[in-house]
Amino acid sequence: MLLQVQQVSVAYPVRGGRPFFAVRDITFNVGAGESFGIVGESGCGKTSLAKAVMGLLQPASGRILFEGQEVSGLKGEAFKAYRRSVQMIFQDAVGSLNPRQTVLQMMEEVLRVHRMRPEGAIQSRVAELLELVGLPSDVLQAYPRELSGGQCQRVSIARCLALEPRLIIADEPVSALDVSVQARILNLIRSLQQELNLAVLLISHDLAVVRNICDRVCVMYQGEVIEHGSAIEVMDQPREAYTKSLLAAVPDVGRALGK
Ligand SMILES: Nc1ncnc2c1ncn2[C@@H]1O[C@H](COP(=O)(O)OP(=O)(O)O)[C@@H](O)[C@H]1O
Ligand SMILES: [Mg+2]
Repeated sequence: MLLQVQQVSVAYPVRGGRPFFAVRDITFNVGAGESFGIVGESGCGKTSLAKAVMGLLQPASGRILFEGQEVSGLKGEAFKAYRRSVQMIFQDAVGSLNPRQTVLQMMEEVLRVHRMRPEGAIQSRVAELLELVGLPSDVLQAYPRELSGGQCQRVSIARCLALEPRLIIADEPVSALDVSVQARILNLIRSLQQELNLAVLLISHDLAVVRNICDRVCVMYQGEVIEHGSAIEVMDQPREAYTKSLLAAVPDVGRALGK
């Protein structure tokens, strides 16, 4: 199993009171090359859970294992390797890119800093990564502000892929984009997952987005998982009233994807 999340809780301190549990006792596994979806309304704890998986937050309890090793116990080189193997893309793609660097500078830097390629092979690797995410080579000289939201999300995906991750955590990756662009970015994520045998943990408030990419999903409500199963099962036969209410507003992106 690539990622094992075992009874993880995340708590934030509250001044003069008991800690607030944003995530309670969550358990799921993600296999290599698998896509797993976490869906739930804003504030239910999705990003807190993602941060715990990234190692940015220490869980209050529970264990997170990557390739069988507990993440909180990783030190030195092993921790660095973990931080390369698990990459995250965000809702605010434009804001996640350095405004002072061109796409070329950004891509070269990430490959150099992490010593992903010898100097002589960097240029061709940048071209390869750009092609992988469907960007034309003329974006190389552009700054983020000169690109569309969709193009910025493609750049941030290319930058993740430069590190040859095993798992990508995509936290609301299309929420800030126009509906037609959403479908294209989701299709890109799905095809990369399949081509590169990449595991994807897709987080969204929108069940239709998750269903289109994910094999299995869980539904979160107020920090807890209230329903889980295959994406098709949960969509077609939701057991919980809350899941039904999420399904009630079927957004256009599902239709745009032809599902
Ligand atoms: N740094 C923080 N300190 C205190 N409370 C937080 C912090 N970050 C998030 N929360 C709270 O935790 C809950 C879950 O937030 P979050 O994980 O961002 O949810 P989601 O990503 O599903 O919208 C919310 O009630 C939010 O207000
Ligand atoms: Mg969030």
